[in-house]
Amino acid sequence: MKAIRIHQTGDAGVLRLEEVERPTPGPGQALLRVEAVGLNFIEIYQRTGLYKLALPGTLGTEAAGTVEAVGPGVATVRAGDRVASVNVLGAYAEYALAPADRLVPLPDQVSTKQGAAVMLQGITAQYLTAATFPLQRGQTCLVHAAAGGVGLLLCQMARRRGARVIGTVSTKEKAALAREAGADEVILYTQSDFEAEVKRLTASVGVHVVYDSVGRTTFAKGLNCLARRGMMVLLGQSSGSVEPMDPQILNQKGSLFLTRPSIGHYIATRDELLERAGEVLNGITDGSLSVRIDHELPLAQAADAQRALEGRRTTGKVLLIP
Ligand SMILES: NC(=O)c1ccc[n+]([C@@H]2O[C@H](COP(=O)([O-])OP(=O)(O)OC[C@H]3O[C@@H](n4cnc5c(N)ncnc54)[C@H](OP(=O)(O)O)[C@@H]3O)[C@@H](O)[C@H]2O)c1
Repeated sequence: MKAIRIHQTGDAGVLRLEEVERPTPGPGQALLRVEAVGLNFIEIYQRTGLYKLALPGTLGTEAAGTVEAVGPGVATVRAGDRVASVNVLGAYAEYALAPADRLVPLPDQVSTKQGAAVMLQGITAQYLTAATFPLQRGQTCLVHAAAGGVGLLLCQMARRRGARVIGTVSTKEKAALAREAGADEVILYTQSDFEAEVKRLTASVGVHVVYDSVGRTTFAKGLNCLARRGMMVLLGQSSGSVEPMDPQILNQKGSLFLTRPSIGHYIATRDELLERAGEVLNGITDGSLSVRIDHELPLAQAADAQRALEGRRTTGKVLLIP
């Protein structure tokens, strides 16, 4: 079978399409025939070495497809089931293993591509708005990179909870998409000072929560956008890692809260996984959540897909098709 592997960290040129042996599921595992791979920023952190990956290795954790075979002791899924997962062991491939209890069955109304597109970013937007900072009607949030994969879903979910959503994006085209997804206000943070704009839009009160996936270029100013006792949710670092900070800053800027959440800690049990994934998939089924699949590229073009994602040339979701 074909897989995209890396032997050393570096730029997108280190991604190689290779012929490897199709894996066999061990105890508790399922073999997935991958029909769509979800591209995520974490693979860029792994490829560049910011996050550790055992080398040589196959990238990718998110995929959807059909269960081809199961290993001993698996009772949660069987061959032929259509499933999606965020815990695939090397998803950039034609076939991949996954722990069977980490597979989520897809309802008939959700296509396999939609399943691959929404599982990781959808669950992320769900836990961020419902658990990390349970947004309530009348509250205001700031969503950075609002037209991105996580961003478009965050805007929709925050709006659905009755919050006022202020989004930031780099271009007018992205601004239109963020508005369509429910952002009440959109700031072009490449052209204007988003801190000044947020102060203007909130009559200097600030926002209850900042969802910051951008990191280095937005974090410090984001703290200045928070209302007293507001929460900074740093969920990623698409622009680079945030500088270390003195906790006293949280005191000085208004008894702020800071958290750096990770999806794994919000879907640690199968019950929690199925509950959060169920909410996301129900949103697609009943039409209240829309997932934008912006690019679909053949698996062999994984490097181009990653270049587009890190080059800020994508919106919504990017899929690789084996
Ligand atoms: N903690 C978690 O559980 C979790 C889960 C999923 C994702 N994440 C994180 O959330 C972030 C978004 O992930 P995603 O896959 O949905 O990606 P994405 O938001 O679709 O893509 C990244 C976006 O970040 C913005 N950006 C700003 N400065 C950038 C820079 N210097 N280089 C590249 N992009 C820049 C760009 O939007 P503009 O052009 O509009 O600026 C770009 O489109 C990532 O940091 C990811 O690691 C965290």
